[in-house]
Amino acid sequence: MITIIYYVAASLDGYIATQDGGVDWLASYDTADEDYGYAAFYDSIDGLIEGSKTYEQALQFGEWPHPGKPCWVCTRRRFERKHTEVRFTPAAPRELVSELRRRGLRRVWLVGGGRLAASFRAEGLIDEYIVSVIPTWLGAGIPLFGSPGPPENLKLLGCKPYPSGLVQLRCRRKIKPNAASNLEQAGETSPTPDHKR
Ligand SMILES: NC(=O)c1ccc[n+]([C@@H]2O[C@H](COP(=O)([O-])OP(=O)(O)OC[C@H]3O[C@@H](n4cnc5c(N)ncnc54)[C@H](OP(=O)(O)O)[C@@H]3O)[C@@H](O)[C@H]2O)c1
Repeated sequence: MITIIYYVAASLDGYIATQDGGVDWLASYDTADEDYGYAAFYDSIDGLIEGSKTYEQALQFGEWPHPGKPCWVCTRRRFERKHTEVRFTPAAPRELVSELRRRGLRRVWLVGGGRLAASFRAEGLIDEYIVSVIPTWLGAGIPLFGSPGPPENLKLLGCKPYPSGLVQLRCRRKIKPNAASNLEQAGETSPTPDHKR
């Protein structure tokens, strides 16, 4: 069984970055005395998936921000490999999830960004969402999902407000975790997406 978790920070109006990809508006929440559960979450995962734009943004941070865990960067372009943890893949989301499941990964952080997350959600491949909502109206920017997707009801697992104003929501799909990719493993067909019923 593999679980794909979209763990992300978003403004109250649903943006994960400014229009030019900036995330400076998150900087004041990055303090030494509060990690919002990040270390525990990072310990709990055994790999990451990210889109090439997010990867390019991460390269600007200097040090590779995701040490010690394999990271699959989805891209149809060719990149020079700068970090041993990183591998580039042209695989479609479902194919990639199947490969990671075959490799024995159990919990995978879908880092984003919005375009890649939309592709995963469209295929019913996201099992859990951990969204840190920042009390800021960005007004415009890169949305949580880069393209529209099917309606989907989620089960709220938890909601934790922090003194900084950040509120972290944890939600899970109502159908069984990652039914799409795990059914494939069992040789069955994927469930019909909600919007096609
Ligand atoms: N607030 C947060 O927590 C958070 C988290 C993550 C990211 N971000 C921000 O989000 C921004 C990037 O988001 P984004 O939506 O513009 O880009 P993205 O999702 O990171 O990357 C999109 C790119 O990935 C490649 N790709 C490969 N397979 C794909 C597929 N199946 N579906 C979609 N894309 C695929 C495509 O580029 P090529 O094939 O041409 O390479 C595509 O243009 C950055 O500014 C980053 O800082 C914020």
